[in-house]
Amino acid sequence: MDYGKLYSDDVWAFVPSPVRAIFKNYDFSKIISFAGGYPSSDTFRTDDMLLAAEEAFRLYGPGILQYGATEGLMLLREAISERYGVPVNNVGITTSSQQGIDLCARIFVNPADAVFVNRPTFLGAIQSFRSYRADIRGVKASPDASGAEGAEAVAGAYSAAIAAARSEGLVPKFIYLIPDFNNPTGETLSLEAREAVIDVARRESLMIVEDSPYRELRFSGSDVPSMYSLAPDCVLHLGSFSKILAPGFRLGWVFGPREVLDRLTACKQSVDLCPPMLDQHIAAILLKSGRLHDNLRWTVSLYRRKRDFMLAMLERHMPSGVNWTRPEGGLFVFLTLPEHIDTVALYDSALSAGVAYVSGAFFHPDGGGRNTMRLNYSFMDMDRIEEGISVLAGIIRAHINAAR
Ligand SMILES: Cc1ncc(COP(=O)(O)O)c(C=O)c1O
Repeated sequence: MDYGKLYSDDVWAFVPSPVRAIFKNYDFSKIISFAGGYPSSDTFRTDDMLLAAEEAFRLYGPGILQYGATEGLMLLREAISERYGVPVNNVGITTSSQQGIDLCARIFVNPADAVFVNRPTFLGAIQSFRSYRADIRGVKASPDASGAEGAEAVAGAYSAAIAAARSEGLVPKFIYLIPDFNNPTGETLSLEAREAVIDVARRESLMIVEDSPYRELRFSGSDVPSMYSLAPDCVLHLGSFSKILAPGFRLGWVFGPREVLDRLTACKQSVDLCPPMLDQHIAAILLKSGRLHDNLRWTVSLYRRKRDFMLAMLERHMPSGVNWTRPEGGLFVFLTLPEHIDTVALYDSALSAGVAYVSGAFFHPDGGGRNTMRLNYSFMDMDRIEEGISVLAGIIRAHINAAR
């Protein structure tokens, strides 16, 4: 059978993730992986989950295994509404935030519409937007813009990108941002920068998709208000249980204007009917009882130690000419190497030496970033972090010296 003749035109827009390919081909036990955005398995409280599952069956019976509402279980929507202070009417449940991203693209994007992302940005979002044939415009704006001048620079960068897209006949639809501990850089957008982007979105009548799976993993510094709390009229906020409970649950949430949530829900019906029912009951019980956030405090202290340790190891082992971000939370450090070092080409040597990372090039939708790399610190144990950074630093040093 010639399957090729049957595929839709769009099938070729689904490009497999190079990050997921790493995990398909390699055995975790044999490599030191700084590649994926994997939480530490030590943070998964299976005993709490078992108790919550028992409680759910005891309280609600086998009915919890039935089909449920597409917009999510009311019990969970209420628990999220209470926790985050958002009216329950503006809360929807997603089958993880990757689905939230995809639904946003599905309801807003026609082929060749423009979407704007802070560059570099999450590969999963790039993949999703590409699959709807969006024209993705990367915008480079300083995350820590402060004062009137900083805000003006951020607003200017987005306004210029939007004007350029309009002048090419494209229709701009939304700005996609990860304001808290960006994947891949770990950086956080200042309040001034958030306000500047909101001003631009309102002026240009665009939505903002605020993707925030790391927001509750803050180790230092102080919280910055979410963009949704600043502008609930034009922001869709995506949250996730993946990094605060477990990614295997495949549960997330969305805050947004009711009218837009209705469109998302109608769209979601054709995708998966409803989020997983048992998982939603467990998450609701853990959230309402406070057990989820008790464990989260421990998770945050574990990740703080891991971040500090990775930063210390980078300081100790990396050659001069290599710089990195110092995230206040989240799961990633982002390295910038000398201009001539290509982290895509370097990858095979690192993997042969037993260390995996993700080249920053994959997070740049419109090219560039080949001299950058993303390192995850949540997944590996401390002793393996030390070994891995030392090996990686040796490889980078050898390439820098060879190029001299
Ligand atoms: C910024 C960002 N958004 C969304 C996701 C997807 O998360 P989920 O497991 O909720 O689908 C990730 C996963 O790493 C991410 O980093």
